[in-house]
Amino acid sequence: MLTTRIVEMLEVTEAAALAAARWMGKGDKHAADQAAVEAMRAAFDRIPISGEIVIGEGERDEAPMLYIGEHVGAGGEEVDIAVDPLEGTNLTAYGQPNSLAVLAFAPKGTLLNAPDTYMWKIATGPAAADVVHIDATPTENVRNVAKALGRDVEDIVVCILDRDRHADLIREVRQAGARIRLISDGDVFGAVATAIEGTGIHLYMGAGGAPEGVLAAAAMRCIGGCFMGRFNFRNDEERKRAEQMTKCDIDGVLTMDCLVNTDEAAFIATGVTDGELLRGVKFFGKGARTHSIAMDNKTGTVRFIETVHRTGGERFWVRRD
Ligand code: FBP
Repeated sequence: MLTTRIVEMLEVTEAAALAAARWMGKGDKHAADQAAVEAMRAAFDRIPISGEIVIGEGERDEAPMLYIGEHVGAGGEEVDIAVDPLEGTNLTAYGQPNSLAVLAFAPKGTLLNAPDTYMWKIATGPAAADVVHIDATPTENVRNVAKALGRDVEDIVVCILDRDRHADLIREVRQAGARIRLISDGDVFGAVATAIEGTGIHLYMGAGGAPEGVLAAAAMRCIGGCFMGRFNFRNDEERKRAEQMTKCDIDGVLTMDCLVNTDEAAFIATGVTDGELLRGVKFFGKGARTHSIAMDNKTGTVRFIETVHRTGGERFWVRRD
């Protein structure tokens, strides 16, 4: 029963977030990432699972830890694991919002093994999940989301990565009348935020990392939202790698069933820096406080979890935040 693993897995993203947050604002994204990777890798070994990293830090020859195909865990039930120990390395390095430590897990063989390429993506929350499509125009998608949410198009906010490749997309969304939340990095946040009321984001569109696409899809699977993708290869090598790695039609629409082919997926993220979805890590001398979201498709639960970490076994009163 994978769902009983939620709290143990939560400790994995918490460990990564606690380690990465020490590097907030220090201008060194590699050190922040490295700290998150090492902490996450060590935390996995305390969990009684036989996990295989299907989305990780890269191929075996380019990543010493949490590489694709690496086995993690202390032994037990077989599990596919997708990780991004620090999603938004620049966001952490420059103290900007919404960097996260993220993982998803699911029964073996159910998460898409995506190569490190780009993916066009569209995501929206449960209320508009059936009315958007990756092949529809941005104007159609924005109008359909507005209708499904009972709002004017002007009241819809679309999250888009601030990249030159999105110039046409941004122009069209503006012409359609919607507002835009441009983000410099971190599109797992952008996609997941569409499903959480109060973030002020209703639709995510654009091209970002394919591995981040699988993580976001796992979250949307858990919460009943929509995520669709389409690979956007930069060269033949990436295309060939995708052919070898994935079972799906690599030129077709990457549907939810192709990305996360199970009703037993779970998604967990812990905030590293403060943001609309989660608060970042707070250190307070004798310990630290983390804020996480844990979603589990099987039980239909979405938990917001605040944890106080008493480092070094210090004794102190815990304050309700
Ligand atoms: P990091 O790997 O530095 O954490 O960046 C993450 C990210 O911003 C993702 O959220 C996004 O999918 C991708 O990078 C976009 O890639 P690019 O910066 O090449 O446009």
